[in-house]
Amino acid sequence: MTGTMIAREEGLKLLDANIADLSMRKHLIAVSAVMRKLAEMQGEDADLWEAVGLLHDLDLEKLEKEEAAGGLPVMTRHGRVSAEMLKGSMPEEGLHAIMAHNEEGTGIKAEKPIDHAIVAADAVSGIITAAALVMPHKTLAEVKASSLRKRFNDKSFARNVDRNRILYCTKLGMTLEDFFVVSLGAMQGIREELGL
Ligand SMILES: [Fe+2]
Repeated sequence: MTGTMIAREEGLKLLDANIADLSMRKHLIAVSAVMRKLAEMQGEDADLWEAVGLLHDLDLEKLEKEEAAGGLPVMTRHGRVSAEMLKGSMPEEGLHAIMAHNEEGTGIKAEKPIDHAIVAADAVSGIITAAALVMPHKTLAEVKASSLRKRFNDKSFARNVDRNRILYCTKLGMTLEDFFVVSLGAMQGIREELGL
């Protein structure tokens, strides 16, 4: 652990205070699980990667409210405001990754493995959740990694999920197939917490 590092319990409290939407909270918990697994595989700081996954969208509801009240469009500030809210709670590297997950809005480029990982994990959790929700019992247990590859190729499936972002996994030296196996496994490991 490097310097100040927010504990998971504290991170969850921040979610409670800032994210009212339950499916968004579950998205963040899913991304945190994928990030921890990726860090372990890459020999990186699993606590940091997990916290980045958990907190990368911390500013979203605040920015939505501000935009609705006449403020700037959410995506022009998303990530930068999360990083401001989290200053001192994690190393700079984590704040950079959170800003880099919205490269277009913040102008902060994804450069390091942790940056590439949050972009890919954020997107893959979307396609995995969508794949679970079309299964007969709507559970992650029914999803197979091989079917994710087919879903990926089917551009009409979960069309809001940017396939190019999922492909950031290749910048971590992983194939798409491996990335689906690992991400699905991480999410299946917390199925009950996700209610999926
Ligand atoms: Fe996200």
